[in-house]
Amino acid sequence: MPSGLAPIIPVTLKKDDSPEDLPQHLAIIMDGNGRWAKAGGQARVQGHRRGVDAARQATTLCGEVGIPYLTLFAFSRENWRRPDEEVHFLTQLLALSLEKELGRLHENGVKLNIIGDPSSFGRKLAKTIDSAVDKTSNNTNLTLTIALNYGARQELLTAARRLAESCVANELSPQAISESDLEGALDTHGLPDPDLLIRTGGEVRLSNFLLWQLAYTELFFTDVLWPDFNEAIFWDAIAAYQRRQRRFGRIGEQIESQSGGR
Ligand code: IPE
Ligand code: IPE
Ligand code: MG
Repeated sequence: MPSGLAPIIPVTLKKDDSPEDLPQHLAIIMDGNGRWAKAGGQARVQGHRRGVDAARQATTLCGEVGIPYLTLFAFSRENWRRPDEEVHFLTQLLALSLEKELGRLHENGVKLNIIGDPSSFGRKLAKTIDSAVDKTSNNTNLTLTIALNYGARQELLTAARRLAESCVANELSPQAISESDLEGALDTHGLPDPDLLIRTGGEVRLSNFLLWQLAYTELFFTDVLWPDFNEAIFWDAIAAYQRRQRRFGRIGEQIESQSGGR
């Protein structure tokens, strides 16, 4: 657990909330860095710098309250369409932030996991990532997954190819392919599906993020720009999640009779 931080008082949580009421896996589309900077008359990259602070805060909050999986969308496959200078800045910022945060993450029992294809950012960042993943591989407090050069359609396409190859090699028959086979071929294999997705920045879309895994995830959209993300917004999202009734196709009465409702 993170140390040296004031204990969090979850103002929007009821006293008798049980840990099952917390999402086990929180995913975040961290959007709005550029607009945050522009609103303050600064260059877009300043928004990205502040975005790192917000990501650290989200990680700390999850560690403190006991949410065991956090997944952050940091760079999409489509973000290569941005100006070269911005992509270059983001690559440098990722490397620097990872180097700077690694000690603290490790101390706090955070296991780092990457989805997407970070090799496209060059050998230096790929090496930094590999050693960070390696160093933290036995940690168990929080699994922090960072989506880097990630796109869900590409992930599904790669999974389809892997399964097709297994079929060609006679290790699998097409008729026998199951949901768990497909899940096992995704970058997220081994992670539970997100229970809650937060997207900051005011856009109400998924932007090619975790399309398979979000099938039954509760979605929370906020106009708050990512650098302004804070504890209050975190708890707003958790409280909204706790007010939802997750039916997974059933009817409300069935859920209430099973769990006493929520
Ligand atoms: C999210 O903020 C960070 C990345 C996509 C890398 P943006 O950079 O998309 O900020 P806006 O949406 O342009 O304000
Ligand atoms: C989504 O934000 C990707 C990340 C947060 C890394 P974008 O800013 O790239 O999304 P669009 O282009 O507005 O859909
Ligand atoms: Mg954006």
